[in-house]
Amino acid sequence: MAQYDAIAEAYQDSKQLPFRKAIERYTLFEALGDIRGLTVLDLACGGGFYTRLLKRSGAGRVTGVDISAEMIRLARREEERDPLGCSYLCRDAADFEPEPEAADVVVAMYLLHYAGSREKLVRFLRVCRDALRAGGRLVGFNDNVMRPPRGTVSWRQYGIEKTGPLSAPDEGDPIRYRFTNPDGRQFEFHNLFLKPETYHDACRECGFRDFRWLGVSLEPGERENPFWDDFLDNPPVVAYSATK
Ligand SMILES: C[S@@+](CC[C@H](N)C(=O)[O-])C[C@H]1O[C@@H](n2cnc3c(N)ncnc32)[C@H](O)[C@@H]1O
Repeated sequence: MAQYDAIAEAYQDSKQLPFRKAIERYTLFEALGDIRGLTVLDLACGGGFYTRLLKRSGAGRVTGVDISAEMIRLARREEERDPLGCSYLCRDAADFEPEPEAADVVVAMYLLHYAGSREKLVRFLRVCRDALRAGGRLVGFNDNVMRPPRGTVSWRQYGIEKTGPLSAPDEGDPIRYRFTNPDGRQFEFHNLFLKPETYHDACRECGFRDFRWLGVSLEPGERENPFWDDFLDNPPVVAYSATK
């Protein structure tokens, strides 16, 4: 069973945490720019939260892919309840055979940190590359591998706690997350650490140019609010982008 099958509903509810809108969503859409009419592949789409937002932001064809059958069930249920024209496939992104060069943009929100090894990261990135037309972009979020937690680090006011090894992590070490949703419900999952340079090297090997960590940005209406200071000083997650 995929890790997210058991926590799919709780994970979807975590999209109501304030950082999701003020930082995650704002940073992603700033990085994407104008996507009107573009064909988008949303790899590791989960329950389709961003798949739907991408479509609502004017994207043309939008396809979500996720390894978790439960996540895809939630995404399809939402599409049935409120049809937007998004399609969903339950597949492992490492083996996914995309329509060649069909996508203008691949969005991969929190996929790459599930690779766990350079070889598997290269497999994920080859799928992204093969899906993209020349000049197309890969954009997403990732665990902040520039600042791995030593032991447990809490971002309590944002609903996030992370635990890593007490010494510098090795490639493939688990980074555990515990989320506390706005209703107080807690749930856990983990991703697998890889060094920042592994991401750079794998992207280069797969023919991406200008792989960059973008950090995070705060939506303008919140910029005077000191609530966000700790998040911005030490972001638990970061955005990235690369161009084919
Ligand atoms: C943190 S969730 C993010 C979901 C969604 N992108 C979002 O931001 O709301 C990570 C997702 O990655 C998916 N995932 C992990 N490994 C995967 C793989 N090999 N192929 C496809 N999806 C994968 C999980 O099932 C889960 O839905």
